[in-house]
Amino acid sequence: MPAQVMAATGGAADLPAKLTAQVVVCCIIAAFGGLMFGYDIGISGGVTSMDVFLKKFFPAVYKKKHHVKEDNYCKFDDQLLQLFTSSLYLAAMVSSFAASKCCKRFGRKITIQLASFFFLVGVILNTAAMNIAMLITGRLLLGAGIGFGNQAVPLFISEIAPNKYRGGLNVLFQLLVTAGILAANLVNYFTASHTYGWRISLGGAAIPALFLAFGSLLIVETPTSLIERGYPERGLETLRKIRGVQDVQKEYDEIVNTTELAKQIKHPFKNLMKRSSWPQIITSGMLQIFQQFTGINVIMFYAPVLFQTMGFHSDASLLSAVVTGSINLIATFVAVFCVDKLGRRFLLIEAAIQMFIAQVVTGGILAAYLKSTNSLPKTYAYVVLFLICVFVSGFAWSWGPLGWLIPSEIFPLETRTAGFFIAVSMNMIFTFIIAQAFLTMLCHMRAMIFFFFSGWIVVMGIYAFAFLPETKGVSIDEMNEKVWKKHWLWKRCFKHEGDQTRDKP
Ligand code: BGC
Repeated sequence: MPAQVMAATGGAADLPAKLTAQVVVCCIIAAFGGLMFGYDIGISGGVTSMDVFLKKFFPAVYKKKHHVKEDNYCKFDDQLLQLFTSSLYLAAMVSSFAASKCCKRFGRKITIQLASFFFLVGVILNTAAMNIAMLITGRLLLGAGIGFGNQAVPLFISEIAPNKYRGGLNVLFQLLVTAGILAANLVNYFTASHTYGWRISLGGAAIPALFLAFGSLLIVETPTSLIERGYPERGLETLRKIRGVQDVQKEYDEIVNTTELAKQIKHPFKNLMKRSSWPQIITSGMLQIFQQFTGINVIMFYAPVLFQTMGFHSDASLLSAVVTGSINLIATFVAVFCVDKLGRRFLLIEAAIQMFIAQVVTGGILAAYLKSTNSLPKTYAYVVLFLICVFVSGFAWSWGPLGWLIPSEIFPLETRTAGFFIAVSMNMIFTFIIAQAFLTMLCHMRAMIFFFFSGWIVVMGIYAFAFLPETKGVSIDEMNEKVWKKHWLWKRCFKHEGDQTRDKP
């Protein structure tokens, strides 16, 4: 038995595999891509509420913020300020296209390495920023890093994980996203009053990027990518190593078959338009739209701003962001341990109910008690903080991690990188929309904004209940046969499969 074997279990019943230390280590290292992503999500809200930063780059917002008569709901409404947050997601969206090509042609590992490179250059520009152009250029490069990382990491993990542990290992990505958000909240809390606080906060992003850059030297390439790119022997050897057993023939044959089929597809993007790809495309796209329309990033990006809107002082606002960030991290463990036991659908539906209640009550309290120029009475402010924690925890064990896990496991190999690109880019477009529009929406819709998001939550709960198949424990290369072709609705897309799924020679 190889030394790296940790447990004598793993893999679907018919695919012998153990959960080896090497797989665990590779997944943890790759998941540092999530730490970069999370740090960025969490850092901008705090930085944009720091007076020194506002004075230097956004003097108009600074003046407005300190104007006593300024409306509670509108004091941070500024397009340029929102662009600081949102530009990153625009760049991530565009670069994830290049990343999907890179993933297919050069492999998952190099794509992950490029992610850390772009990100590091972005951090340097941001930390040294002397003007808004440097700031936004830095954000764009960080975005390229995120685009490359988010494209490659979930795919990488799903491909090297044994089926039985795929969900839990994939959720490591989200776990590190939440750890990154929390780390950023903490850094902001401690740097807020420092003259160069914002530079320290933005510079801190180098830490996860350096971890990823050095760590990625130690990870293996996935057997699927090796075989797909014409290295079958290395693929077989890697498969034996990461599975911890000699008898990997069945899994190897499965991968070889799928790569053979995949090779017949000359235009994966064109293939994605075919009827037999609709189930996966629609599912991935809807999951991303829904994930963002839970309203989670209103909290993640703008928690300090939101808490200031509710009348908390600067310090208390940053501290409240630390509280929500901690809940986010802790609750993600529920997903790590439950996603392969309770299944994906259960978590999504349960969380939709929980998040709906939290949003409606928050909206009700704000509508009743937070007017244009007062502060929320203290007790209500704490109730709202509690409700936000209820909301965030529901998201953290469901729509957060599963928004990344499900798209990474449902596409057949021939459309996997292209299909996952659609998922990543949809996520980024909708993250961009929320980041760019939220402060303006808050100013116009006021407390109603919470009812807006809760309406979406009803729709997504119904969608998960009615249309989403369960993918727990199914081999990633057997999804079409075992899941989609058996689903009451989606099986219709495979009716004329012979002439639908493959390119004509
Ligand atoms: C989402 C992010 C979100 C984060 C919160 C991720 O899955 O993609 O947009 O900020 O979860 O933990």
